[in-house]
Amino acid sequence: MQIKCGIDIIEISRIQESIEDTNGRFLERVYTKSEIDYCESKSKVKYQHYAARFAAKEAFFKAISESFPKYDITWKDIEVTNDQNGRPKINMLSKQIPNVESIDISISHCKEYAVASVSVLLK
Ligand SMILES: CC(C)(COP(=O)(O)OP(=O)(O)OC[C@H]1O[C@@H](n2cnc3c(N)ncnc32)[C@H](O)[C@@H]1OP(=O)(O)O)[C@@H](O)C(=O)NCCC(=O)NCCS
Repeated sequence: MQIKCGIDIIEISRIQESIEDTNGRFLERVYTKSEIDYCESKSKVKYQHYAARFAAKEAFFKAISESFPKYDITWKDIEVTNDQNGRPKINMLSKQIPNVESIDISISHCKEYAVASVSVLLK
């Protein structure tokens, strides 16, 4: 068993600009429908949630980069969801990575920044 971790921090304003300036292209490239529905439900603070999901995906890429450099995992191959208590989870959608036993994630955001930390347990 081995644990690999990844972390990322992002400025909310950077994500807001990317979303507002690209006429839907950035949204379409990075986020699944379920993620967009979740963030849009947060109305005034939606960019904090978008930024957090961007950070979560970057943190996941960091966690797996050394072990699985050949797996071409891109933004929408993974999805962040929340359980009924709000606790986030990372789901692998279209591609599976062998030896990944489980993935855990924690997210936080404030007015200016969002951070995410991901731990991957390998068999
Ligand atoms: C859960 C809680 C700690 C989040 O803290 P916060 O300072 O309000 O918010 P932060 O910006 O630091 O973090 C927000 C992120 O916390 C995560 N989160 C929310 N609820 C969570 C939970 N129950 N467990 C783990 N993570 C949680 C989410 O990922 C959320 O971001 P997202 O909505 O974009 O996915 C806070 O809402 C709280 O204390 N709630 C009341 C008590 C409670 O329900 N505790 C949970 C069970 S012990």
